[in-house]
Amino acid sequence: MKARAIRQRLESLAAAGVTDLPRSRRPAAPRDRTAGDAATVSASANVTVGGPDDRARILDVIRQEVAVCRRCEPLACARLNTVFGSGPATARLCFFGEAPGADEDASGLPFVGRAGQLLTKIIEACKLSRDEVYILNVLKCRPPDNRQPLPDEIDNCREYFERQLAAIAPEYVCCLGTTAAQALLRTTEPIGKLRGRWFTHGAAAVICTYHPSYLLRNPSAKRHVWDDMKLLMGRMGIAP
Ligand code: URA
Repeated sequence: MKARAIRQRLESLAAAGVTDLPRSRRPAAPRDRTAGDAATVSASANVTVGGPDDRARILDVIRQEVAVCRRCEPLACARLNTVFGSGPATARLCFFGEAPGADEDASGLPFVGRAGQLLTKIIEACKLSRDEVYILNVLKCRPPDNRQPLPDEIDNCREYFERQLAAIAPEYVCCLGTTAAQALLRTTEPIGKLRGRWFTHGAAAVICTYHPSYLLRNPSAKRHVWDDMKLLMGRMGIAP
């Protein structure tokens, strides 16, 4: 990590009231997600801080940085809002999408358009509610005409989504579509090969499935997504 990024990170943590940075190379132990336990906040800086309040505070600091980010000047110029993410800082499960579309850009919230409505149905089919999962995207700004994120844009946003995930420290991440899966897992394998298998990212178990927008265009793929969600539910201990 570059010196500027480290300084920025430390200033953010200080702004969030984190003044003590114990050194630890050990991964976070399995945690009671409601107790005041330790959570790894930055894998690269090996920073550990306290419980749910700390996680929410750290997320808030990252949100403020994202709100003024101009790393991708064309996206920053065109955006109405940055779309940081939504959900509880203590979520066991994160859904990780690609980038905001027009509805998300207008509202500042992830997955609120047609694809979002389908995602809500998928979440509810898993016997969960939107209120108990965290939803975020690779990019925090809308690409023009909903084009796919460029490699440079993903690089620029990587620090934000990695820090978000490190702060939440979910047990499970479900990547929605190629961009999210390839960005998180740093692979070039296509989604058709990545779905239906388990991976890890830090302490989180990661599953990949098709993006809801793809399902809107290819409804026959819904059965594969349901297969993936059954794998997820099984591992999370949710009865079908
Ligand atoms: N598609 C995404 O990947 N993310 C959103 O927030 C909306 C649509």
